[in-house]
Amino acid sequence: DQQSRKLADPKELVGSELSFITDNLARLLESGHPMLNTVSRYYFSASGKHIRPLLVMLVAQATSVGSKRAGRTSMLVGTDVDSIDYSLMDRSASQNIHSDGESQRVNQLIEGATKESHGGRPYAPHVREGLTILPTQRRLAEITEMIHTSSLLHDDVIDHAETRRGLPAVQKTFGNKMAIFAGDFLLARASMALARLRDPEVIEIMASVLSDLVDGEFKQLKNLADDDAPMARPDEGAFDYYLEKTYLKTGSLIAKSCRSSAILSNSTDDIVEAAYIYGRNLGIGFQLIDDLLDFTVSAAELGKPAGADLELGLATAPVLYAWQEYPQLGPLVARKFAHDGDVAMAWDLVHASEGLQRTKQLASHYMERAIEALAILPASSAREALERVTLSVLTRTK
Ligand code: FPP
Ligand code: MG
Ligand code: MG
Repeated sequence: DQQSRKLADPKELVGSELSFITDNLARLLESGHPMLNTVSRYYFSASGKHIRPLLVMLVAQATSVGSKRAGRTSMLVGTDVDSIDYSLMDRSASQNIHSDGESQRVNQLIEGATKESHGGRPYAPHVREGLTILPTQRRLAEITEMIHTSSLLHDDVIDHAETRRGLPAVQKTFGNKMAIFAGDFLLARASMALARLRDPEVIEIMASVLSDLVDGEFKQLKNLADDDAPMARPDEGAFDYYLEKTYLKTGSLIAKSCRSSAILSNSTDDIVEAAYIYGRNLGIGFQLIDDLLDFTVSAAELGKPAGADLELGLATAPVLYAWQEYPQLGPLVARKFAHDGDVAMAWDLVHASEGLQRTKQLASHYMERAIEALAILPASSAREALERVTLSVLTRTK
């Protein structure tokens, strides 16, 4: 903590930008259906940590100084997603698919969008101490949070979650259908906003995140009793499989949005790669801490269910380490803690083992690698703030 206090404060650098994000997201999610508006904005109404947009904006600033490639032309087209839907079509097409009242409303929105400004200054670059956040990078931060939230809306249905961000889980309040539609809608609006960045490389990278998320979820589902069971033994193979899954389900979005932010700064290839390696290590470390907190923090503190992973049949890092000390965990892992008493026994063995400390050490190793990756960026308060975020992820309790 001492180490961390000397570093620039991320909130001071981009806090004001982050404070607009909820309002901006609400605009990006405007639809003609009041119910869809309510459900798709539901998780944004509770305060999330906004770690992903924070990282995108800090990477934007940290890569705004230093060497640049020539000739990149990405730009944010249109100022509001309300205008995205329709301004790409000609007027007659837009009139064909909307009732007269609707197309009038849309036209007003398009005109309004060019006059309005969110919170006073969102469409101009945000410049502080010579560190710049471009409008494309601000929009990327919003897209990243939309993709994340979309995956949570689906995840809570899949995991039968009771709560999220201290609220009843989306499907508990609105039902499964609404939760799935809202997740799809967020993803649709995120895709449109992404296309509007007019940067094919960034579009391709961010699209690949979506298949990574599904790939990660499938790896997690894979039946451990399969013949080619990747987690049959508590050895390197099981751990590699777990870490690969962890990269896909959590690391990919963070890593690739950091990469995309550096690309939008027009950074040279080595800087773009460093931003990716930073995000990749931070992302894996972030999920390791998530898997640790599932064993150590109460549901009240987390704002979501605790002790949930064993109930879901998942053997995360604390269990894999405990299994190395207590081979009797093997059959429980293989049957996904399905028999009566399995969850309680696994819970006790994890707490009796070194599993929790070792998981923290592993997370700390990933955080060190993340910080190392920052070394090739020019020194700046944004680079320091990235270091500070990395350290704070390691000590987070929710
Ligand atoms: C939370 O993990 C969930 C994820 C990290 C990704 C979920 C991905 C999908 C459901 C695939 C579909 C993707 C899209 C974009 C619609 P967790 O359940 O371990 O964490 P939790 O404790 O926060 O629920
Ligand atoms: Mg899940
Ligand atoms: Mg879940």
